[in-house]
This record gives sequence, C-alpha cells and structure tokens, in this order.
Amino acid sequence: MTKTNLIWLAAALGLTGLLLWLARPPQPDPGQMASIKIPALSMTARQGQQKFLANCAVCHGQNATGTKQGPPLVHSIYRPAHHADASFYRAVQLGVRAHHWGFGNMPPISGVTREDVTLIIRYIRELQRANGIY
Ligand code: HEC
Repeated sequence: MTKTNLIWLAAALGLTGLLLWLARPPQPDPGQMASIKIPALSMTARQGQQKFLANCAVCHGQNATGTKQGPPLVHSIYRPAHHADASFYRAVQLGVRAHHWGFGNMPPISGVTREDVTLIIRYIRELQRANGIY
C-alpha cells in the first residue's frame, strides 16, 4: 500500500468514527436514570412512597431516579452493603455533605419522623431489589 493510500484509509476511518459518534443515541443526564422497573409494592413500601413523594422526590426524583438537584437512590452506590439503613436515618436527621456526586449538600429534612424514614427505606429497598440492586 502506498503512503497516499494509507493517508486516505486513515481519513476514511476517522470520518466513519465521527459519523458514528454524531449518530449515537442521546445520552441521559448524568445522575438521572433513564427508567427503572417498578415492582408491586408492599403496603409498607406504599406508605413509604407517600412520605418519599412529599419529602424527598423534589431532589431524588419520582421513583427515586434522581433529578438535577439530587442523585438516584435506586443506584448501586446506595445498595444495602454500601449504604446501610443507618445512613438513611442519618441523612434525614443531619443532612449529607456532598461526597459522591456534584449536586451539593443535602440539608437535614425536618418534619420527617424516624418511623417515616423506616417506611421510606422499605420503599427504596423494594425498588432497588426489583432493579437488581442488593
Ligand atoms: C434539597 C434536596 C434533597 C432533599 C429534599 C433530599 N435529599 Fe437526600 N440527598 C441529596 C443530595 C444532593 C445527596 C447526595 C450527597 C452526595 O454527594 O453524596 C443526597 C443523599 C442522600 C442519601 C445518601 C446518604 C449518604 O450517606 O451518602 C440518602 C440515604 C438520602 N439522600 C435520603 C433522602 C431522603 C430519605 C430524603 C427525604 C426524607 C431526602 N434524601 C431528601 C439531596 C436531597
């Protein structure tokens, strides 16, 4: 192969790469999940869902899939082995200093009791399990 042929080959490969990159499907917003499986929730989880929608969804999103204000909780980072239930009680009572993402700090959430958090945890764990997060 001559030198000119090689240059043409390289240019063609480069152009193909560029076209493939341009044609790629739209990327989801980082920190937001495209969609998740919603399981049939237990009674307790449904009560937790109400508390979650009223107090957490502004930042953590409907179905805990995240927003521009906060991360998805249906995410392997928040699997029980990495964020045990205690981290939920602590987060709500004391807030969270930003450490995993770039959303900023989570403020303490007032008006949410320990019992409410227990229900919310049940809701989040059921969502996580339905999506393969153990
Ligand atoms: C004002 C926005 C906001 C609200 C409201 C909010 N959060 Fe958060 N939350 C955040 C952000 C931002 C983070 C991520 C901090 C980081 O970078 O790790 C976070 C992180 C968490 C974490 C992870 C804690 C850890 O140890 O890393 C848990 C659990 C959590 N939130 C639960 C809740 C629950 C439950 C509610 C409702 C009672 C709630 N959040 C309401 C913004 C919010």
